[in-house]
Amino acid sequence: MPGPALSNLRVDGERLWASLMETARFGGTEKGGIRRLALSEEDRAVRDWLLEQTRVAGYDSGVDAIGNIYVQRPGADPSRAPVAIGSHLDTQPTGGKFDGVLGVLAGLEVFRTLDDAGIKTQAPLCLVDWTNEEGARFAPGEMGSEVYAGDVTLDFALSRTDAEGVSVREALERIGYRGPETPGARRFAAMVELHIEQGPLLEAEGLTIGVVTAAKGQRWYNGEVAGRESHAGTTPMNLRRDALPAFAEFVLAVEAIARAEAPAGVGTIGMAEAQPGARNTVPGAVRFTLEFRHSDAERLSVMHGQAMSAAQRISAARGVEIELDPFWRKAPVAFASAVAEAIAQAAQKLGLPSVEMTSGAGHDAVAVASTVPTAMIFVPCSGGISHNEAESATPRDCAAGADVLLHSVLALAGTKTCQT
Ligand code: HGY
Ligand code: MN
Ligand code: MN
Repeated sequence: MPGPALSNLRVDGERLWASLMETARFGGTEKGGIRRLALSEEDRAVRDWLLEQTRVAGYDSGVDAIGNIYVQRPGADPSRAPVAIGSHLDTQPTGGKFDGVLGVLAGLEVFRTLDDAGIKTQAPLCLVDWTNEEGARFAPGEMGSEVYAGDVTLDFALSRTDAEGVSVREALERIGYRGPETPGARRFAAMVELHIEQGPLLEAEGLTIGVVTAAKGQRWYNGEVAGRESHAGTTPMNLRRDALPAFAEFVLAVEAIARAEAPAGVGTIGMAEAQPGARNTVPGAVRFTLEFRHSDAERLSVMHGQAMSAAQRISAARGVEIELDPFWRKAPVAFASAVAEAIAQAAQKLGLPSVEMTSGAGHDAVAVASTVPTAMIFVPCSGGISHNEAESATPRDCAAGADVLLHSVLALAGTKTCQT
C-alpha cells in the first residue's frame, strides 16, 4: 500500500463525471441513454475521443486485430508487465451512461490523477477498451477480450455478422480500428475492472463497493422453431403446425427451468421473431435467442439438459422441430484472490464499506481472467437497473469506485514517487 502521501490521493470526481457526460453524447438517445453498438459510427467516435485524450497526455497507444485499444502509461521499471485497467465503450441498443464506459473513463481518470500528482508507478499501466463486450450487434459478447484470452479465435470473431450481414471484419475496417497488433501479444501482470453492479444488492445494503470475486457461467443459444406456414382462415386448428404457440410453450418451460434454479440460476429469451410475420398466415417459424447463467457449472449443464428435453417434448407433441444451437459458453469464473484482496484493502483504507460479490453479468474481466490475474470493483446503480436507458449512478459512487481502482492499481503496480 502506498506511503502516507499516496494514501490521501483521490481522483478528481468532477473531471470523471464530466468525461462520463461528455462521452454520453456519442450515441446519446432522447431518453438519456446511449445506443453505441460495437463498431458503429458512434463507437468509432468515442474511440477517437479516447485516443485523442490520451494522445494529448502523451501516452502511447496501440490497436490489435480485433480492435482492442491499449493505452500505455510508462512505469519506472519497464521490464515489469503492465497492470491493466479495462472495460468497454460499446453499449446495448438501449444502454445507459455507465455500463462499461465507467470502467474505461475511471481508468483514464486514474492516469490523469497520477499525472497531476507526478507519480510514476513501478510497473507500467495499460488502459484497455475491449471490443464488443455487449454482443448485442455481433455475438458472442466479450468478443475482444475472449480473442485476447484465446478463448475465441480471431477468424471466428472476424467472421461474425450482424442482422444486416455486415461482418466484424468489415465493420472494423469501416471505422478504421482493425489494428496491426496480435491479440494476446501484450501480457499483463493483473487487470482490474470497475463496473456498475447492474443489480440491486449494493444499493439495498447501503454499500458503496463490491469486491467481485467470481462471475456466473453462461450458455448462449440461437434457436428456431420450425412448423408449417398455412392459411389463417382455412387451416383447421387440429391440422396446424403453428410455430408460435409451440415457442410460447418452450418459453414457459425455460422460465420454469430458471425459476427452479433461482436465485443463482437465470434464463432469458431476449429476441424472438415469428415468420413470415403476416397477420393472416399461421407462423411457420420462430427464430429466437436463449441464454442461461448459473454460478455452479454443474447446475448450468442441468439447465442445458432440461431445455434440450423440453424442446424434444414440445416438438413431438406439436409436430414442430425446436432446434437449439448452443454456440457459446463460458464456465463460472473465480477471480484472482490476490487482486481481489488488493481491491478489498484499498476499499478498507479509503474507509469505504464493501462486500464480496459474484457477478451475474458477464464482463471483459471474466474473459481475461483465464490468462491474467483479474478481479472487479462494483459500485451501485439506481434500482440495480442496467441495459436500460434509465441506468444511473451517482457522482459520489463513481468517484469512490475510481478511488478504489486508483489505490488497487497503486498496490498492484507498486509506486516510485518521482517527478514525471
Ligand atoms: O450480458 C452481459 O452480462 C454483459 O452485460 N454484456
Ligand atoms: Mn458491461
Ligand atoms: Mn452490458
